[in-house]
Amino acid sequence: MPGDLREQDLSKHMVKDYDTEEKKRPILEKPGTLQRRTHSLKPWMIFLITTAIVLALAIIVGLLVYFLEYEQTIHYYQASLQMPSIDYNPDFSVEHSKIKTDLKQKINNEIDKIFQRSSLHHHYIQSHVVNFRPNNHGLKANILLRFKFTSNNANTIKRQANEIVHNNLKSSESFLKIDTSLPYLTEVNGTQAEHVLNSCCGLGMEYPPMERVTHGQIASQAAWPWQASLQMDGTHFCGASLISATWLLTAAHCFDNQKNPKMWMASFGTTLRAPLVRRKVQSIIVHENYAPHKHEDDIAVVKLATPVLFSENVHRVCLPNATFEVLPKSKVFVTGWGALKASGPFPNTLRQVEVEVLSSDVCNRVYVYGGAVSSGMICAGFLAGERDACEGDSGGPLVIAQDQNIWYLIGIVSWGIGCGKENKPGLYTKVTHYRDWIKSKANI
Ligand code: ARG
Repeated sequence: MPGDLREQDLSKHMVKDYDTEEKKRPILEKPGTLQRRTHSLKPWMIFLITTAIVLALAIIVGLLVYFLEYEQTIHYYQASLQMPSIDYNPDFSVEHSKIKTDLKQKINNEIDKIFQRSSLHHHYIQSHVVNFRPNNHGLKANILLRFKFTSNNANTIKRQANEIVHNNLKSSESFLKIDTSLPYLTEVNGTQAEHVLNSCCGLGMEYPPMERVTHGQIASQAAWPWQASLQMDGTHFCGASLISATWLLTAAHCFDNQKNPKMWMASFGTTLRAPLVRRKVQSIIVHENYAPHKHEDDIAVVKLATPVLFSENVHRVCLPNATFEVLPKSKVFVTGWGALKASGPFPNTLRQVEVEVLSSDVCNRVYVYGGAVSSGMICAGFLAGERDACEGDSGGPLVIAQDQNIWYLIGIVSWGIGCGKENKPGLYTKVTHYRDWIKSKANI
């Protein structure tokens, strides 16, 4: 049959082909060897191949995570919003007033809601109300929006964010309206945005602290960001507190021996060696009634040659109103690089200690300071001694936490007999007593 013939022919060819291969093979290798190689891998080879595959996968995943996550940087946008239904009230300009804090919270919640249900929810971080201002259509607010994305996405994200804000705020449901007189979103550089975000006063250590503070404790970086060190020739002499971007509040007696501003420098950050920021001093204003080596009117303001840029670790403390009263037994903190005990060593890292306010009556007892405590001073510490400020802490802050964890400067380290001695608590210049003097010199 023709079919059979074809099959026969084909098989002949196959045999022939096989034969040719057979003939070639011995030159290369023995047929048996090849068969074993292709069909069974040695365990160490399997292990090697699996490891290589796992390694390659890990590298791919790693690169993906890196490019999608770590290549992302923080970007800030500023926007102006309008609230036609809310009338301006001067309390909107008072720092930490209830009405201001509540409205800020309400606006931030609204913006959070808008972005969290938008396509940008992976990139949106938070909204921050910078300030309020009056307007003939009610109230206006400036806000800063914080996003996280890879820089090559910038234009798309900005466009999307603009659309999201616009689409959500044009609906009549929201109390917020877009301010059509200004461009919707404008990018703000990181340092400038950080300065604005940290420009409110008194944000420091969380209070009450997680662990009880007994003796002097090392302070963490962002706990007391207003603390400054006043130095001459690179040596720490006194503490001081940042009360605005250009002004420090300190003790007058720090300048008993040297009043020339050119000789002084201010540093910020918790360590004296390797500080975060340094500034030259432009001028020193000592209280007119202060007499060197006396304890009365021990207060001075220092103007920095250039303002500091606020950051998480360097920003100002709040000043209390002249009417603010601190009750005896209130828990307060004093911080500084002063000696660890009378005639003891000086630390490089900032220390903090919690003390208690004592009434002037108690401090004026014959066996305490016998009448030396005047109305311009606050007494703080313990009659039992131990916890106290010491040499080198002078000029530094005595602060109290008020509601919402906002720290107010109530005292300036001034004097005392010894350090931590029984019946000899620390004495501080009473900031409220000099509130108007500070305003008249530094306009704060
Ligand atoms: N006069 C000291 C100074 O110049 C500060 C004294 C504070 N003393 C005290 N026991 N609280 O650094």
